[in-house]
Amino acid sequence: MKVGGQHFRTIWLKPDDEAVVQLIDQRFLPHRFVIEEVRTVEQMATAIREMHVRGAGLIGASAGYGMYLAAIEAAARPEAAEVDERLTHVAAQLKATRPTAVNLSWAVERQLKNTADGKNATEKVALALRTARSIADEDAEHCRMIGQHGLELIRKIAGKKAGKRVNVLTHCNAGWLAFVDYGSATAPIYAAHDSGLPVHVWVAETRPRNQGSKLTAWELGEHKVPHTIIADSASGHLMQRGAVDLVIVGTDRTTFTGDVANKIGTYLKALAAKDNDVPFYVALPSSSFDWRLRDGLKEIPIEERSAEEVKQADGWFEGQQVEVRMAPEGSPAVNYGFDVTPAHLVTGLITERGVCEANEKSIRTLFPEQAQ
Ligand code: MRU
Repeated sequence: MKVGGQHFRTIWLKPDDEAVVQLIDQRFLPHRFVIEEVRTVEQMATAIREMHVRGAGLIGASAGYGMYLAAIEAAARPEAAEVDERLTHVAAQLKATRPTAVNLSWAVERQLKNTADGKNATEKVALALRTARSIADEDAEHCRMIGQHGLELIRKIAGKKAGKRVNVLTHCNAGWLAFVDYGSATAPIYAAHDSGLPVHVWVAETRPRNQGSKLTAWELGEHKVPHTIIADSASGHLMQRGAVDLVIVGTDRTTFTGDVANKIGTYLKALAAKDNDVPFYVALPSSSFDWRLRDGLKEIPIEERSAEEVKQADGWFEGQQVEVRMAPEGSPAVNYGFDVTPAHLVTGLITERGVCEANEKSIRTLFPEQAQ
């Protein structure tokens, strides 16, 4: 997508040095556009853990490039078996950085499987590079396809509204910043806007880290998509007043039965949507399905982050990014990163292969190769 009119992905190899990964450091958005250079797998693990990069697809792509950097480092060892041993060790470290987004372990496992075929260190590095590139390119292409399938949903609603704007509500940032390009929840919105449909987005701010008001609002603004930031708690009120035509959110992990883990607060929006007959869609590339998990509530690991994220906020003040405390210093806080929306509250899943219902039969019809 575009930043200041120039096309960017969220992660790429440095053009004149392929041993360096460049990425957009999201901690500084929307105030400053900073590109970070990552040279070691340790630096990549930090970038994922500390959320320089975030969002399911981008976490997967970053882990893919992290494994490539690890392969370069490990290639100093003479024996192929030693390289494998090092990669297995690093794989566990990367997987431990953030527990909820399944794209992380999916990408790491894919790297382990592919690099195992290399007969020596040089071959393993080449395979790791090819795999990292494929993960990133597929992510972008799958999100582009999600946009095309989701566009039809928006087009249908627009057809019924006779030229009035279509209001989409979204939560957190499942935009291009959360992937390599296009985004999942935002891809249909960009496709609709680009094809001339009058689309407007309600952007839920998404406490505590405000990925909605900081990131989604920024990227929609860069693409000139009309949008309005709302407090998280305003979503139900807007739905009761008929101001929301559909909800589209992303997901960090969805079970093969259609239970959806997404940023904390998603479940409450799904409940409000159900009560007000507002369609509630989840957009995801197939890399965000967990084909091993049946029961999202019982089985999806929910990340708990620092309580300080709840008690503090950061923002821009007199040319600087500053942190302020909003809560009594002594009050305890707890910070669940995600919640699970049960399948029965989900109207449909928008994938790269089309739209399906949030149930096992419908999901497996789109992905028959994932038969048990
Ligand atoms: O904690 P984050 O910012 O990595 O959370 C992930 C998200 O951005 C959301 O949960 C998003 O809606 C799904 S990831 C595409």
